[in-house]
Amino acid sequence: VRRKDFLRDLWYLALPARAVKPGVTAARTVLGEPLLFGRRADGTPYCLQDHCPHRAMPLRYGRQEDDAIECCYHGWKFDVGTGRCLEIPALVPEDEVDVAKIKVPVYPCREVAGALWVFLPERRGRLPETLPPVPGEEATRGLEPRVCESQAFACHFDWAVIGLMDPAHAAYVHTSWWWNTGEHVLREKEKRYEPSPLGFRLARYALTKSARPYKLLGKNVSTEITFQLPGVRVEHIRGDRHAAVDLTAITPVSETETVVHHLIYWTVPGLGALKPLARRLARQFLDQDRQAVLKQQSGIAFDDSMMFVGDADQEARWYFALKQEYLASREQGRAFQNPVVERTLRWRS
Ligand code: FES
Ligand SMILES: [Fe+2]
Repeated sequence: VRRKDFLRDLWYLALPARAVKPGVTAARTVLGEPLLFGRRADGTPYCLQDHCPHRAMPLRYGRQEDDAIECCYHGWKFDVGTGRCLEIPALVPEDEVDVAKIKVPVYPCREVAGALWVFLPERRGRLPETLPPVPGEEATRGLEPRVCESQAFACHFDWAVIGLMDPAHAAYVHTSWWWNTGEHVLREKEKRYEPSPLGFRLARYALTKSARPYKLLGKNVSTEITFQLPGVRVEHIRGDRHAAVDLTAITPVSETETVVHHLIYWTVPGLGALKPLARRLARQFLDQDRQAVLKQQSGIAFDDSMMFVGDADQEARWYFALKQEYLASREQGRAFQNPVVERTLRWRS
């Protein structure tokens, strides 16, 4: 398995939409590439490479005026929608330079349910004819996140993905007085999984012993969890009256840093008072994962091999199989064939 490769021609959650206010830009590194996010005059988001082609000045230090960004160094201006150069102030009229031929790379950028997603193509300037849907778009359409938490994990993307999906660590890592007594009480679980686009799905099942918050969603509360490449997990909980969505999107910054975005949505009105609590729990939860991964790093530096044992490790096996098939199908110019087969997994957690 080529574990270290990053996958392209996919959407990545870059940052919460509220971090990009009108007239303000935000710089983020995604897959090792410096990117600048902002909004056009009409409010739609844009993303361009945060790098002036003249002398490598990050464009984040420039200023935006209407739909153009001006580099802080020599004032070159670029259109934020197309990346084309609009003006080079140092030129005299006699200079025969076609400034529009100079371009900063731009990337498709979409705002979906309070998050900005960027599409990173395999080859710059070559987009597929139709872009795939943004992960979780259907479940979160029209909703605003009530909780939106992002944390940087000091590890390679793969370790963050398998660390977050893994069911067996919860009883050991996610311990606290309100959640778990720390006595590692494990129960046997049995869940049916099936292939889904670019990933797998834990088929919808009824939450019988509903914990109290789920009752707010009404009766017959059920949940469905999907995972898809590159690293997006969407849990869709639904009752007869309301729904909640828990979205985790993992985005590589570099070989050694990964950002985990955790967004929670619910349709129950008037639960504003719950937000601080939900935020605190989400933060604590993510922090426990982050700490575990941090401790793991010296081990990985010594020897990064891993074992897959039992059904508890099946999701991790599938992740690497999906990734391998994604890379292979693209190299061979053929359609992706989902390596996941429907099956029931049994484990204790
Ligand atoms: S470096 Fe940007 S204009 Fe010169
Ligand atoms: Fe976890």
